[in-house]
Amino acid sequence: MTLEQAREKLEKYGQEHLLKYYGELSEEEKGSLLKQIEETDMGILEACKHREELTKKGVITPLASMQLDEIEANRAGFTAVGMEAIRQGRVGAVLLAGGMGTRLGSDDPKGMYNVGITRKLYIFECLINNLMEVVQESGTWIHLFVMTSEKNHQATVSFLKEHEYFGYQEEYVHFFKQDMAAATDYQGKIYLEAKGRLSTSPNGNGGWFTSLKSNGLLELIQEQGIEWLNVFAVDNVLQRIADPCFIGAVIQKKCVVGAKVVRKNAPDEKVGVMCLEDGRPSIVEYYELTEELMNARDENGEPAYNFGVILNYLFHEQELEHMMASSMPLHIVEKKIPYLDENGELKKPQEPNGYKYETLVLDMIHQLDSCLPFEVERNREFAPIKNRTGIDSVESARALLQENGVTL
Ligand code: UTP
Repeated sequence: MTLEQAREKLEKYGQEHLLKYYGELSEEEKGSLLKQIEETDMGILEACKHREELTKKGVITPLASMQLDEIEANRAGFTAVGMEAIRQGRVGAVLLAGGMGTRLGSDDPKGMYNVGITRKLYIFECLINNLMEVVQESGTWIHLFVMTSEKNHQATVSFLKEHEYFGYQEEYVHFFKQDMAAATDYQGKIYLEAKGRLSTSPNGNGGWFTSLKSNGLLELIQEQGIEWLNVFAVDNVLQRIADPCFIGAVIQKKCVVGAKVVRKNAPDEKVGVMCLEDGRPSIVEYYELTEELMNARDENGEPAYNFGVILNYLFHEQELEHMMASSMPLHIVEKKIPYLDENGELKKPQEPNGYKYETLVLDMIHQLDSCLPFEVERNREFAPIKNRTGIDSVESARALLQENGVTL
């Protein structure tokens, strides 16, 4: 893109300020800024003017979850079906590790965080240990796809390599980068993070399948005959990955997606809950849950919206190929965005100062016809690390790891 073309594009979107320091840049920096301007989707920025409308929900009704007693009664049968799928190589795992983990406040990728106390135990290591249990039990290596972003790719790849993938077989680990999106102030003006660089942040975890595809990994999935993809977050150190019982239940119930859920610990707990939206499976975020829904009861007198998702989903791969990535709703999230101030100095704000633009994996559920919410015991499978202290923190996850017999 030439300077003229860049000016034209920026004028169209009211972003001319991005060329403020153009004259001060080296030739190489100029080229890279023009390329970034060319590649940035500025059409999405208008959306911040009608933020609330973007994620408006339809009519919400309850969706029953498969609960622990039913799972226990069928455990052997489900596990046998899931094990068979794993042994036939029909299951892959996808680790979503492209996030910035800003709440944890470490500069390294979140998976590099050491949760050990008397020894080193990294988040990545916990996850791989959990997956290894299934590998050992089934006698089968499971392809593990790791999503990173431009901001943490190099650090993630080097760290895992250096630690020899914590015992995982290298040929079964595949990295792919997600896309970035520009970050703006509250008026939708893109920030600069350097004189020749727009502020960007990863574009949310909703683009994982599109990114797998654009990184050429779909061919591998098809070649290997992988039919099911277990997608999971980097921060839950207790979760079971490629859990045979979960896989078997989803297959037996003939659903195209399964979602691990936990019983909420309070009606207003901050987790997204499974529901039907206009008759299709969906997830309603805690801040969208009205008083009425929060207090609604099912026919057994139990809370009707009582099962929260833990970001561990099992997708039928072919269904994803038909999914329209473009119809995913955009979420505009307030964040702390490093930026150049009016004197051209880099500032790292302590409070949110603008918006990030993201699509979310949970919105994929609504595009699918059938979903099995599958209950897991929260003290056995849910220890997310979002913060340093308090709720969903390093502290709370350490206590849960110890409760589950992990030496820290
Ligand atoms: P979070 O919602 O916790 O976001 O991500 P985050 O960016 O990691 O953390 P904060 O909000 O800045 O503190 C849930 C999961 O989705 C992944 C994360 O790595 C985590 O596993 N994720 C999130 C991505 O892979 N890409 C993204 O763009 C965002």
